[in-house]
Amino acid sequence: MKKIKNTLLIVISFSLITSCNSNISKEETSKESIQNRFVKFLEYKPDSLAFPRSYSIVKNEIKKVPSKDWTSGFYAGNLWQIHELTGESEYKDLAKKWTAFIEKEKYNDRTHDMGFKVFCSFGQGLKHIESDHYKSVIVKSSQTLRTRFNNTVGSIRSWDFNKKTWNFPVIIDNMMNLEMLFEATKISNDSSFHKLAVIHANTTLKNHFRPDNSSYHVVDYNPENGNIRMKVTHQGFNDASVWARGQGWAIYGYTMAYRYTKDKKYLDQAEATTNFYLSHKNLPKDGIPYWDFKDPSIPNAPRDVSAATVISSALVELYQYTNKPKYLDYSKKVIKSLKTEEYLLKPTINAPFILKHSTGNWPKKDEIDEPIVYADYYFLETLLRLKEMDKQ
Ligand code: GLY
Repeated sequence: MKKIKNTLLIVISFSLITSCNSNISKEETSKESIQNRFVKFLEYKPDSLAFPRSYSIVKNEIKKVPSKDWTSGFYAGNLWQIHELTGESEYKDLAKKWTAFIEKEKYNDRTHDMGFKVFCSFGQGLKHIESDHYKSVIVKSSQTLRTRFNNTVGSIRSWDFNKKTWNFPVIIDNMMNLEMLFEATKISNDSSFHKLAVIHANTTLKNHFRPDNSSYHVVDYNPENGNIRMKVTHQGFNDASVWARGQGWAIYGYTMAYRYTKDKKYLDQAEATTNFYLSHKNLPKDGIPYWDFKDPSIPNAPRDVSAATVISSALVELYQYTNKPKYLDYSKKVIKSLKTEEYLLKPTINAPFILKHSTGNWPKKDEIDEPIVYADYYFLETLLRLKEMDKQ
């Protein structure tokens, strides 16, 4: 009874404060909503076989995946980043646990998604703890990823499935692996990882972009002679369409590749694809794109918050290399939009996710308009990048 009375008092005082102080900004209210979402991560129990990947609001069900799934590393990454934002050690303790569950992936040579899995977990961890063990996992994972590189093509092979159609598929998402390879060279002094990353970035630069600087999703090569067999999509609306998250991987990938190489052509590509994206007539005013810019059902097509957060994070970095305010303006606009009820998950939902309205795989009708772990990852990264920039 006493507890209920106290809670009532707190609620009444809070309502009085908010109603008396009409100046209280929406941002202040949403700061609290975001903190409420963070707490859900503390409530979710560690399980080495069940990484939270997405959440169905309709079914009230968390989709859980094993460590081999391409998204497994983001959950640990989210915990590391929430720890960095809040300074609270409980998140760090949990982050360590979830990061350890990923380690066996360092031997998994059957997919290219090593960067997402290992660098978003162990790589994030290295920002918070000095660990030779974490470093060795990053180097071993890079050695494993290197086995998928074909020198004749000049690329890392992305996928092994769909062998009847593709011979050597390379997807634009693969650019995201390069951060781990560049770091592996810094850790080990073995320059081969850096060199391989540069070759991959150059091949992708040559073959993945259309004249308007939008990116194809998949380029399939002949591994015997390096010739291009086809340029197609797997997750976009059709082969000629503009899959929003793919543009995100391209923008983020080339901005990051510039960070490690200072090669101007990477910066130019990042800017060219960004300008294509920002000036597209189908980019909504709140900055959150439809899942594909060419879905004929626009404006009724689902949005993809994950594409928005990948790009908002990349553009904080791109702004720092170029000093062009339009890039930073976009990142800030996205964050402002996402900190509203339209995009933040309600506090009553007991699942470790922050944002609604991402689209995972539209052609497969999978994870449409749902909270997805990687949207949160790049949202948190954007917040941290903006915070870091404000300090300078
Ligand atoms: N890398 C897979 C995706 O973006 O859905």
